[in-house]
Amino acid sequence: MKAGIIGIGRYLPPKIVTNFDLEKILDTSDEWIVSMTGIKERRIADESIETSYMSFEAAKEAIQDAGLTPEDIDLILVSTVTPDCAFPSVACMVQEQLGATRAAAMDVSAACSGFIYGIVTANLFIESGAYKNVLVIGADKLSKLINWNDRNTAVLFGDGAGAVVLSRVDNSRGVLSYELGADGTGGKALYIDESIIMNGREVFKFAVRQMGESSLNVVEKAGLNKEDVDFLIPHQANIRIMEASRERLSLPVEKMSMTVDKFGNTSAASIPLSLYEEVKNGKIKEDDVIVMVGFGGGLTWGAVALKWGH
Ligand code: UT7
Repeated sequence: MKAGIIGIGRYLPPKIVTNFDLEKILDTSDEWIVSMTGIKERRIADESIETSYMSFEAAKEAIQDAGLTPEDIDLILVSTVTPDCAFPSVACMVQEQLGATRAAAMDVSAACSGFIYGIVTANLFIESGAYKNVLVIGADKLSKLINWNDRNTAVLFGDGAGAVVLSRVDNSRGVLSYELGADGTGGKALYIDESIIMNGREVFKFAVRQMGESSLNVVEKAGLNKEDVDFLIPHQANIRIMEASRERLSLPVEKMSMTVDKFGNTSAASIPLSLYEEVKNGKIKEDDVIVMVGFGGGLTWGAVALKWGH
């Protein structure tokens, strides 16, 4: 039994904060931020917009896109490091709001790699025959953990949510291979102590190495060659890191998704938000091989190779 993505949705908070807005409150410049990260603007959620709300909105669209109803969902996984509160989980809040009365629900904590961890978990539940329809949401409101006086981190992040429904698909499509990893010894490179603390250089070096390696690993595990990859959806942290992954796969620029300019680094939401753009603008088509790859705090990483369609 194969698991594939049959529906997709997203939510972005309406408030746009540009680099020029940040120039007014920080010792930074649009020029530095664009050249060092590729980010031009990001969405920032108001106090009233919590992770559960963003997740619910994205989930509603994904379920509709899949042609299902909330009662069809067997399991809800919300990948987030910014839940509304310690418990109940965001997944339980979403279950209630959707009226997904049959669904089990839990949150997955793997920082920016969370969406990939969610997809792999959903895939195994479906492949084993245990569940039919699994809702995977990547959602984060990192703005509530930002120290707005720290230019090293404040310019990087944004808020948002992306959701997909995975279900049984035709045997020739769906998840082809995956890889998950973690290295707890690198935990201090990126962590929360009231606000986000980051050793940017260390994370940068780790990300460049790991994203490239994981991308190649899933291509190989799927029995494919680099040339078979039609589209790369990397975690949108920094254009320079993304470019390095693209080069490892020898892909042309137009075959890599780039939304970091508009949304910044949205943590667990970044991969589904990018996937959404490429699917909705018709760049990802039936039977395309896509590689999604992420890294994040933990340290954690993960990649999935998937053949689009159902
Ligand atoms: O999802 C995972 C989350 N984390 C990441 O993805 C972060 C990965 N790391 C990075 O993206 C990069 O390390 C950064 C973009 C954060 C920084 O780039 P870098 O090439 O590692 O630069 P750096 O940290 O070595 O900083 C270079 C200079 C420093 O000034 P000095 O010491 O050379 O005078 C910084 O103080 O840039 C300065 N700087 C800034 N200048 C203007 C740092 N942040 C800013 C800023 N505006 N916002």
